[in-house]
Amino acid sequence: GMRVGVLTGGGDCPGLNAVLRAVTRKGISVYEHEILGFRSGWLGPIEGLTMPLGLDRVEEILNRGGTILGSSRTNPYKTDDGVTRIKATMQEHGVDALVAIGGEDTLGVADRLTHDGVPVVGVPKTIDNDLGATDYTFGFDTAVHIATEAIDRLRTTAESHHRALVVEVMGRHAGWIALHSGLAGGANVILGPEKRFSVERVCEWVERRFERQYAPIIVVAEGAVPEGGGEVLLTGEKDAFGHVRLGGVGTWLAEEIAQRTGKESRAVVLGHTQRGGTPTAYDRVLATRFGLHAIDAVSDGDYGKMVALRGTDIVRVPLSEATAELKTVPLERYTEAEVLFG
Ligand code: F6P
Repeated sequence: GMRVGVLTGGGDCPGLNAVLRAVTRKGISVYEHEILGFRSGWLGPIEGLTMPLGLDRVEEILNRGGTILGSSRTNPYKTDDGVTRIKATMQEHGVDALVAIGGEDTLGVADRLTHDGVPVVGVPKTIDNDLGATDYTFGFDTAVHIATEAIDRLRTTAESHHRALVVEVMGRHAGWIALHSGLAGGANVILGPEKRFSVERVCEWVERRFERQYAPIIVVAEGAVPEGGGEVLLTGEKDAFGHVRLGGVGTWLAEEIAQRTGKESRAVVLGHTQRGGTPTAYDRVLATRFGLHAIDAVSDGDYGKMVALRGTDIVRVPLSEATAELKTVPLERYTEAEVLFG
């Protein structure tokens, strides 16, 4: 067997622990590998922060949200001697190869590291479902479920008070969560970041719904931007760590609707509730399959690859493909939903 390091980078999402469990169980029982977890994303191998993953450590984590390893957005290429330190840590602990579970940033680093002589296999992860090289990422289904449940709950209170309810969901660059939760929850308006929206048009839909004596639910992705101006909403503010923070479009839109239509409006920002808690069965299965295939790739010495879902199959694609293309929602998907806004 080998000694295989594993880490989770970037924003967390439900299903990460299911990957860790599958990598560990198959790694140990089939290949007789030793699995060494690194804590806090790329910070772990840079600083030598480890957590050995034995069979006992991965008991009872399948259905647990988050990641037992912790995560961070640390980038070794933006850290002094980051790559040298990763190599030194791997040598010190006798780690032969890494499994890196993450989104665009983490997998981009994994790709560069492979070219710099570090053997890495990637596992894609994001609730946004915007990675081009895989049909789905785990975490997305859970986020859609949470948002759909929220819409169902908000609908009954909206109807009771005859208010417009704006639900702001996650999605900076892609509106997949907005589209799917909006369709599943029977939203009356769905707005994504892919195309600027017209506030007038939104108000027309809202008024039509009120005319039929029903309360409108408006689902808006955090990255959605109104036509004409709104650059502030697009750029967002930076937090103390320099990350761009989105959010605010929902609250802004509820206010606009109230002013323009004279109807009472409320906004709810779902935020990180969409990323927390137990993964759905679909996400557990996808994460588990990714983990099983990732440890196969490591054991085959097939580095520089990422596991991906194509149709119903798990395949290996070059890590360079992982981040090459952002998968946004085709505009016709929003258009075809409009007939249902009723
Ligand atoms: O990429 C996943 C994601 O949840 C986005 O939908 C969201 O914009 C962002 O991460 C939030 O990041 P943070 O957890 O740093 O606030």
